[in-house]
Amino acid sequence: MEITKAKKLKGEISVPGDKSISHRSIMFGALAKGITEIDGFLDGEDCNSTIDCFRSMGVKIEKSENRIKVYGNGLYGLQAPTSPLNCGNSGTTTRLISGILSGQRFESKLIGDDSLQSRPMKRVIDPLTKMGADISSEKGNNCVPLLIRPSANGLRGIAYESPVASAQVKSAILLAGLYAKGITSVTEPAVSRNHTELMLSAFGADITCAKKTSTIIPGNELMGQKIIVPGDISSAAYFIAAGLLVPNSEILIRNVNINPTRAGILDVCDMMGANISYEDIRTVSGEKVCDLVVSSSTLTGCTIEGDLIPTLIDEIPVIAVMAACAEGETIIKDAAELKVKESDRIQTVVSNLSAMGCDITATDDGMIIRGRNNRLGSSVLYGTEIKTYLDHRIAMAFTIAGLIAEGATTLDHPECVSISYPNFYNTLTSIQ
Ligand code: S3P
Repeated sequence: MEITKAKKLKGEISVPGDKSISHRSIMFGALAKGITEIDGFLDGEDCNSTIDCFRSMGVKIEKSENRIKVYGNGLYGLQAPTSPLNCGNSGTTTRLISGILSGQRFESKLIGDDSLQSRPMKRVIDPLTKMGADISSEKGNNCVPLLIRPSANGLRGIAYESPVASAQVKSAILLAGLYAKGITSVTEPAVSRNHTELMLSAFGADITCAKKTSTIIPGNELMGQKIIVPGDISSAAYFIAAGLLVPNSEILIRNVNINPTRAGILDVCDMMGANISYEDIRTVSGEKVCDLVVSSSTLTGCTIEGDLIPTLIDEIPVIAVMAACAEGETIIKDAAELKVKESDRIQTVVSNLSAMGCDITATDDGMIIRGRNNRLGSSVLYGTEIKTYLDHRIAMAFTIAGLIAEGATTLDHPECVSISYPNFYNTLTSIQ
């Protein structure tokens, strides 16, 4: 795959369905009574891993590309899988399903690919164990394979103070809370994405959020729903950056989820002086959605930290590319979570941007990016060989970098975009 400098990007695109919402729609549909119909489902590898896991537990799921029908088995209707559940590359599948499986009366085993096998699961093992779950890591390294056996005395609700702002951890605990005796609550250091709370409530669960605490009271049956999955802002992020950075560009991105717990990249764009307008703001399946018009802009550096970080954690690779082209310095801090994503994204972003000639330094919890007029005296990025580390977000972020770099940029594994955005390259071609 070779990417060359783009002269302009013009046109109208839609991005695929939100990955977090797509995962949850399958899981909650499987646990509900009746049929859940899903429109706009993300037909990517991660979400298909979730479908495969629930099919293996006896849930009938019909799929034709982005339209899905889940024939729910009810809260207690999952069946024991006959082989290990393969979560592929998906941390979301693994962590959320761990919460659900902790409440089942059968034994299960979760496995995954090389990247998943190095991602930390202690963050779910610890709180689920506190709830009475019998969950352990097969190799004793707190990673998958995970073995989950029926709880000896049943689950009990806990009030958990999470050391990390992670929607995956929060959701695992809340889902186990569906099967627990008593109330379960999770308090986070900063608010993470709230799709579980919004969607579980629509399915009929007694779930509430107040400030940094989400609480679930078990007992309610879940009922099948019609869900329209809005476009994923994490996928839109690449086209937002491309529209801002490539000269003479204007891109209309339709149907983007701008839930405030997800839309931190738009706050950063604002701080950097980006030219973006929000059209037709509306609510779709409980989520705030709009169309975005993005035009070429001159960006300036900014500081990205604190409570903003969980709202843009997956967008940091492409935000770093924006920062590399901005005037002045951008500091990203409080983002140590980057180290435990599909790759260590502090290292993979810093090494690839350095290779492109950017003046960038890794820190313990983020990075410092000196954009135009930096210490190296260079004001451009140079095309080079990018290592994706099989991380879909690194592949897409550095494709965008390639559109503004001098000379050709090559990627070692561009096909890894299919984890979250199988049509990424076709969509890019359509506006060139
Ligand atoms: C997700 C939560 C985030 C995010 C991931 C999807 C989710 O992970 O990075 O891509 O759907 O809950 P953490 O919860 O680990 O921060």
